Amino acid sequence: MARLDGKVAIITGAGQGIGLGYAKRFLEEGAKVVVAELDEERGKAGMQELEGKGEAIYVRTDIADPESAEACAKETAETFGTIDILINNAALYHDIDNTDVSFEYLQKVMSVNQHGAWLMARAVAPYMVTQGSGRIINQSSGAAYSYLFPPMEFSGLGNFSYSITKWGVVGLTKFMAAQLGQYGITVNCIAPGITMTEATKKVVPEEFLGGMTAMTAMKQRLEPEDLAGAAVFFASDDAKFCTGQTLVIDGGLAMPA
Ligand SMILES: NC(=O)c1ccc[n+]([C@@H]2O[C@H](COP(=O)([O-])OP(=O)(O)OC[C@H]3O[C@@H](n4cnc5c(N)ncnc54)[C@H](O)[C@@H]3O)[C@@H](O)[C@H]2O)c1
Repeated sequence: MARLDGKVAIITGAGQGIGLGYAKRFLEEGAKVVVAELDEERGKAGMQELEGKGEAIYVRTDIADPESAEACAKETAETFGTIDILINNAALYHDIDNTDVSFEYLQKVMSVNQHGAWLMARAVAPYMVTQGSGRIINQSSGAAYSYLFPPMEFSGLGNFSYSITKWGVVGLTKFMAAQLGQYGITVNCIAPGITMTEATKKVVPEEFLGGMTAMTAMKQRLEPEDLAGAAVFFASDDAKFCTGQTLVIDGGLAMPA
């Protein structure tokens, strides 16, 4: 039997990359999937890749917009009757501008990568509380644990926008887990190392990529499908009493205590 038979999962940012990888695997495991993606082109392209694999719908969603997050939860519940799983995967990564160190840009990245995860969790929580069960899986990054940056062309203070939002997601996971556990809801987090998505190929310079891979224990590059098993575990009954945890999957680089 598939491990997530009949479960309803919202996966944010599932139009491409790691989120699409999660969506494919969740369908294989019997879940019904909501592709909650801001970019319509990516959303539609993702849906094409999911065709024939199981029950999936696309709901255009901006996780940084409270009304859009609420509407996504509502449409999911109206379509599938419930919400069992939320994967907070969406973030500004492919489209991030690491050269913009302004305060305004820091606020923008925060509003998507960190506040967006909170807004989506807030939107699904009432449904999960009512049914007395739920699984929330946040997406951090090895960037939260690494103080190395690709070389930049300025000498002032960076705003560390991507890394600090990913560190914030680790903390958010613990607070949400502590509060929602009493309702049968677990909250965990995955922190992938550099994974070979289109976004990585665009954002991370090849020489930096090579250097980072060489520093890992396994000396190999991760693909999106290498992360999906951990998401299935957190979403399944096997992880019933596992909450507030962050699992780093990076081939052996960060190894936080
Ligand atoms: N690829 C990596 O090496 C890596 C490593 C660690 C963590 N991560 C994290 O994994 C996740 C996916 O990474 P990826 O490589 O697939 O990146 P990606 O940029 O290709 O995917 C992110 C998706 O989120 C969508 N999105 C952006 N803003 C949104 C919003 N406001 N509302 C809804 N959707 C929005 C984008 O359109 C995109 O499809 C991100 O959270 C990223 O930070 C990636």
